[in-house]
Amino acid sequence: MNAARARTSHRVAVIGGDGIGPEVTAEALKVVRASGVELDTTFFDLGGARYLRDGEVLSDDTLEVLRGFDAILLGAVGTPGVPPGVIERGLLLKLRFSLDLYINQRPFVGTGPGHTRSHDFVVIRENTEGPYVGEGGVLRKGTQHEVATQGSVNTRFGVERCIRYAFELASSRERKHVTLVHKTNVLTFAGDLWQRTFDAVAAQFPGVGTAYNHVDAACIYFVQDPHRYDVIVTDNRFGDILTDLGGAVSGGIGLASSANLNPARTGPSLFEPVHGSAPDIAGKGVANPVAAILSAALMLDHLGESRAAQAIREACSQPTNGSTVAVGDEICRRLHG
Ligand code: IPM
Ligand code: MN
Repeated sequence: MNAARARTSHRVAVIGGDGIGPEVTAEALKVVRASGVELDTTFFDLGGARYLRDGEVLSDDTLEVLRGFDAILLGAVGTPGVPPGVIERGLLLKLRFSLDLYINQRPFVGTGPGHTRSHDFVVIRENTEGPYVGEGGVLRKGTQHEVATQGSVNTRFGVERCIRYAFELASSRERKHVTLVHKTNVLTFAGDLWQRTFDAVAAQFPGVGTAYNHVDAACIYFVQDPHRYDVIVTDNRFGDILTDLGGAVSGGIGLASSANLNPARTGPSLFEPVHGSAPDIAGKGVANPVAAILSAALMLDHLGESRAAQAIREACSQPTNGSTVAVGDEICRRLHG
């Protein structure tokens, strides 16, 4: 090999999915290529539409194939007509759990008047435990005596590795601050485990400041004073809800990106916008591709292509208008300009 800087092509599995998923994913791939990073892509036809066609959600064989990639880029999944949970549990959560994607990292930047930054924080959502584990069941279904239980699993191991990741991330950021968000006053068993683990990890990071907010209060602060936050760490369910709100107060859900990370790198990590498949606007060419593009930038960070990732974020930092394809084109133009 003669080149001093040999370009490696990253092997990326692409799951466009349903609704607007394939449209926004195509723009994300276009922008990554315009940034100069080479991707070797393999497309996987998975999601609600595939399930309705032949019953496949995510076979163990396909999962094993996906394990061999450097990263997975996902658009959005979900189609009307598929019962709730089939695709969510069978595809998304199966990927998160099987690939041990225990961190769900969701950054939020808000711009005020004149494009000044009103806030810049990251939610670290635990991604493999909590109520998402699916512990529980139903008795006497459909009768007057029906009973449904839905547990929440919180392990010291799972909570600690998530909190540690949040502190490590905060150490690398300017403000060096972590807020734990929970509901320790009511969910006393899980809350106590989270709080004690948080305190124990915090003691190992003396240079990082800390705070605690109940989740309901955090909702007010997200709207009224989001600037107070740097890194937030929270459980799977609170993180799900808070990050939709984070999107809403940071320019809209069409800008919200996420990384499902396996920081131990025992397999690929998965990158996807926070938004869903939006079947009502699918195929109209009006979906905002920026969330998918910023998710691809998070993928580039993980693949060691931070310069390209940063360039993409800068290109996305000014507002863009127009169709899905026009927004993608404009961001490519800014990368070249
Ligand atoms: C998200 C989504 C998923 C979640 C659903 C689709 C399983 O809402 O990524 O936030 O709840 O995690
Ligand atoms: Mn969600």
